[in-house]
Amino acid sequence: MERVRSWIRGFDSLAGGGIPSPSFMLLVGNPGTGKSTFSIQFLLNGAKFANETGVYASFLEREETFVRNMTQSYGFDFKSPMQAGKLHYLEFSPLSPIVISDVFAEIAKVVLENGAKRLVIDSLNALLSDLPAAEHRRMLEIIVNRLIKGAGCTVFGIVEQGIGKQEIGLGIEEFVADGLIIFESYVEGFEVKRRGVIRKLRGTEHSSRYQSILLTPKEGIGFLQMVE
Ligand SMILES: Nc1ncnc2c1ncn2[C@@H]1O[C@H](COP(=O)(O)OP(=O)(O)OP(=O)(O)O)[C@@H](O)[C@H]1O
Ligand SMILES: [Mg+2]
Repeated sequence: MERVRSWIRGFDSLAGGGIPSPSFMLLVGNPGTGKSTFSIQFLLNGAKFANETGVYASFLEREETFVRNMTQSYGFDFKSPMQAGKLHYLEFSPLSPIVISDVFAEIAKVVLENGAKRLVIDSLNALLSDLPAAEHRRMLEIIVNRLIKGAGCTVFGIVEQGIGKQEIGLGIEEFVADGLIIFESYVEGFEVKRRGVIRKLRGTEHSSRYQSILLTPKEGIGFLQMVE
């Protein structure tokens, strides 16, 4: 079995050495828990350590703002992978009346043309919110069949979850997905903390323990065993 490594501190060992690939992963999380940080690091590390091309399709943030924030927060280098064609940022304006099938076609085109092995969609809520729920499955099947099975791409779909909400949100995606990672924020004493857990991962043994999520200026995101 092939595995895709993230090279994110503390993560790959939780997934039994890496995420079985290709696969459709959902990254579900509360606001500000590190979903985008995790996802961009997954792409940057793939480019740096495995020479794999990554595509970040965003419906939430403009490229300029995203790159500036990530660079200021963590000092990530976007220039070299972008110039080398190893990282592509696709920016879709939430204000434009996007035709969803055009968006899918555009994402698929960039992935296939560049032989990308890693794709992030930030976020699935933003992409699918204007569609009737019955259409979700059809759209997700396009991702799964064309990009994942067809092109061997590992896809991370980010799902935004309101604080205190239990349900994943959109309905059917969690059953389609090969893996489900949850990031939560919670309160301890007077402090808001973050934790993450792999809820499901097909095809491999994996940790089912919550880990502390660390966000540091030097390393970006990392996971640490929580002490009881
Ligand atoms: N250098 C840093 N050191 C520590 N924490 C940081 C640093 N930079 C950013 N953060 C934290 O990371 C959080 C944002 O991370 P990120 O954007 O990856 O989260 P997200 O889950 O994608 O958020 P959103 O819901 O806004 O999309 C910020 O709320 C901030 O608390
Ligand atoms: Mg984000």
